Amino acid sequence: MFESQIDREEMDLENRITSPDFSESDSDVEFSLRPQSLAEYIGQDKAKENLAVYIEAAKKRGEALDHVLLYGPPGLGKTTLSQIIANEMHVNIKVTSGPAIEKPGDLAALLTNLGEGDVLFIDEIHRMSRAVEEVLYPAMEDFALDIIIGKGPSARSIRLDLKKFTLVGATTRAGQLTAPLRDRFGVLLRLELYTPEQLCSIILRSAGILEIPCSKDGAMELARRSRGTPRIANRLLKRVRDFAQVIGDGTITKEIVSTALERLEVDELGLDNIDRRLLTMMIRNYNGGPVGLETIAAVLGEESVTIEDVYEPYLMQLGFLARTPRGRCVTPLAYRHLGIDRPDGQQML
Ligand code: ADE
Repeated sequence: MFESQIDREEMDLENRITSPDFSESDSDVEFSLRPQSLAEYIGQDKAKENLAVYIEAAKKRGEALDHVLLYGPPGLGKTTLSQIIANEMHVNIKVTSGPAIEKPGDLAALLTNLGEGDVLFIDEIHRMSRAVEEVLYPAMEDFALDIIIGKGPSARSIRLDLKKFTLVGATTRAGQLTAPLRDRFGVLLRLELYTPEQLCSIILRSAGILEIPCSKDGAMELARRSRGTPRIANRLLKRVRDFAQVIGDGTITKEIVSTALERLEVDELGLDNIDRRLLTMMIRNYNGGPVGLETIAAVLGEESVTIEDVYEPYLMQLGFLARTPRGRCVTPLAYRHLGIDRPDGQQML
């Protein structure tokens, strides 16, 4: 019997505490915790160092910064970075998202309201419609809007000049952008999952701002279980604070973190029920793989893009899952973590 059709309700996908996606309950703290300058921003060293050079150069020339594409898994700070870019350039920012721009006219309205050098941030830029995207091409390249007036044979096009602006686009997948759009970004920055040490610094910074007493050990333990994602780290910090106040003396310690996360069913490495079921399903039903992405998605009742963007990056960072040309494979490390013997009877050390 296949372990299939996992009960969605049981998995409670929308409210998963380990989800990197933004939820309304994150908003109260997320805004107060956002770093405002590159100097305050922890991690993403490569992206940060390059960005610092481009910003300084643009400022020296007195020009708008080149268009920037930020890509990488959700929850890593793409919106935060775009705000920092605007702060560092001393310009205004307008924030929108691909799905929110319904018609070409919506985008035209946004563009014509931008001041010289301003930043337009478009989150989930891969979800823009084709018609909207086409308005962006001349806007990005020539800082111009082509407007069609009239219909039929008498229709004509007029060109409207825009102020020189910076488009900052964010996407979880650069591969889903059309080539003409991707090619119009001068700066491509890939954001990576954070290391536990970087997350520990972020947690200590957040705990300081929120005035939550937190030991270094406690922060490190939380960091190890936050799936490389600051949004998850900050969310868990709030939940663990509740446990610290109710079952402890208010201070977040390593022990409190362990107890709290056990109650939340997040294990020592930050895996939750869904991760464990994904791996055990692959092991029990498919001998650990290779298994096609579509099959995994169907069995978990999830969209394949969610599997790719949300679950796999962390499992791959841990070395628990490998992407091969024939499909996904569970690695020996994952067998060991789950305490399952491998099929050849080999016991992991
Ligand atoms: N809060 C969330 N992400 C952060 C980061 N990269 N640096 C500092 N604080 C953060």
